[in-house]
Amino acid sequence: MRRDGVERNHMHDPDKFAAVSDNFIYVHRALRCDLARIMAGGAGLFVQDFPRFARILAKHTELEDELFFPALEERAPGATVLTNGPHAEIEALAGELGELAAGPGAELNATVLHEGLTRLGTALEVHLAEEEEAVMPAMMEHFSARELWALDGRIMEFCSPEFMAEMLPWWFIHMNAADRVAVAGNMVVGVAPEALPMLARCIVAGLPAQDWAQLSGRVPALAGGVE
Ligand SMILES: [Fe+2]
Ligand SMILES: [Fe+2]
Repeated sequence: MRRDGVERNHMHDPDKFAAVSDNFIYVHRALRCDLARIMAGGAGLFVQDFPRFARILAKHTELEDELFFPALEERAPGATVLTNGPHAEIEALAGELGELAAGPGAELNATVLHEGLTRLGTALEVHLAEEEEAVMPAMMEHFSARELWALDGRIMEFCSPEFMAEMLPWWFIHMNAADRVAVAGNMVVGVAPEALPMLARCIVAGLPAQDWAQLSGRVPALAGGVE
């Protein structure tokens, strides 16, 4: 049922959907995918990969709190209030887990780790679903497609080159082939042309060659700056 509302809006205005889908669909899916992988991977993988997950989650939350949600609040006061508590709770849970990951390995208790990751996973899932069901439709309702693309285009202002070099490979690794094509297609539309080669090089760096070949075949404009 949840998907119906999203699909209806998609049918209604595919350009608006495309402009909000990177933040509300495709990053959310990669976050779920990576956290599930970390939860299944044991202490070693947790120590190695949780800090990156936490950095990317924190930036995602920062972009919502600093860029997307203040803009929406101006048009629809109260539309993002439901995200305030979960953002604080999720950052606190991720912070505690980040300290565990940075501490001495001998202190990693499997039960504590499992409980912490489960709490984070549960809180995150409820929160992401709420954003997808309530906030994303409000974004599409209160902004034109051009305004949504303009907001999307400001993301780079908040991200250092170092962050992009970490985030982009992570994102494309933790998406399926169809989602990669959608995100790459959005980049080609939403990102300044001069920035595309740098983004494409970051993506190439993380993807297995066959996945890059498949993606660049479907979105040649992304691949143009690399080859
Ligand atoms: Fe959020
Ligand atoms: Fe989100």
